[in-house]
Amino acid sequence: MDELRPDYILQVGLGFWASKALLSAVEMEVFTELAKHAEDLETLQGRLGLHPRSARDFLDTLVALKFLERRDGRYYNTPITDFFLDKRKPSYIGGMLEMANHRLYPFWSHLTTALRTGLPQNEIREGAPNPFDALYAEPARLREFLRAMTGVSHGANLAIAHKFPWSKYRTVVDVGTAQGDLITQVALANPHLEGIGFDLPQVGPIFEEYVGTNGLSRRVKFVPGSFMEQPLPKADVIMMGHILHDWNLEIKRMLVRKAYEALPQGGAYIVYESIIDDDRSANAFGLLMSLNMLIETADGFDYTGADCSGWMKEAGFRETRVEHLTGPDSMVIGIK
Ligand SMILES: C[S@@+](CC[C@H](N)C(=O)[O-])C[C@H]1O[C@@H](n2cnc3c(N)ncnc32)[C@H](O)[C@@H]1O
Repeated sequence: MDELRPDYILQVGLGFWASKALLSAVEMEVFTELAKHAEDLETLQGRLGLHPRSARDFLDTLVALKFLERRDGRYYNTPITDFFLDKRKPSYIGGMLEMANHRLYPFWSHLTTALRTGLPQNEIREGAPNPFDALYAEPARLREFLRAMTGVSHGANLAIAHKFPWSKYRTVVDVGTAQGDLITQVALANPHLEGIGFDLPQVGPIFEEYVGTNGLSRRVKFVPGSFMEQPLPKADVIMMGHILHDWNLEIKRMLVRKAYEALPQGGAYIVYESIIDDDRSANAFGLLMSLNMLIETADGFDYTGADCSGWMKEAGFRETRVEHLTGPDSMVIGIK
């Protein structure tokens, strides 16, 4: 009995405390402020607009959670928060956390309803059929969402840029490219490649701005279109990050078929997201992501490497393999 401890249950059950403290810190730009220089409690309290009752506990909570350091009464970013959560650095990944704070955090309070009804609990609760229509109706929300995609995908994008045998190929299309971080990282690491980002027309200006900032406008172009209505642009490699999980099985299969049709013989199809382990018992993030799709989409769901390999084989791919990228993310590669 001595060995039975409730710690883990309480840690997960009250995990939203720590989560919301971090999300509020990002919202209040604590890390952007401290990236300028370290501050003492009083100055920081004034700068961030914190109430005297909350300031010390809030900042010391961030110290205890290892997002800040405190030395001689002054607060500092850690090297990790300084790199990833300072809004003025290109390495900022807080877009995902900003979206989590505005959207996912309130929507997840309806998880039980979603579990009982199978219905999404976000903006489309009122009946809009396509989650992207609701999201893209407002420019500010669109920009926040596309930056959030960069935040959640950046580590995996770097891994794909360096792990995949790019020297065998010359052209690449990223389908559902969002801000374009995947094609950007792939093109930066592989100067011989020419790339296309394919997405809905509203995404174009935000993509082009990002690609331009990375000095890639000559080699990386935007092609507007809908993968529901038209064939995919042709290339030696077709990539899809966090696309298949948005949709039901029929649309997943249709997208895999379209990728097959857009590739030459020997071409490669890379599908990546937080692919669930085949036993569906270890990748908790991948499984939670699937619950997030329950909240966010009409009928999307995440899937295992074996599921995806099966859809690829059905479409005609002669060879498939699953490779781990980083954290919960893996890629499934199909060779035509
Ligand atoms: C979940 S995001 C993934 C973004 C990015 N690939 C990543 O992994 O970070 C899905 C993307 O698919 C795009 N998309 C949605 N419907 C589309 C359609 N019918 N045709 C082309 N792109 C679409 C969205 O605009 C969005 O950029």
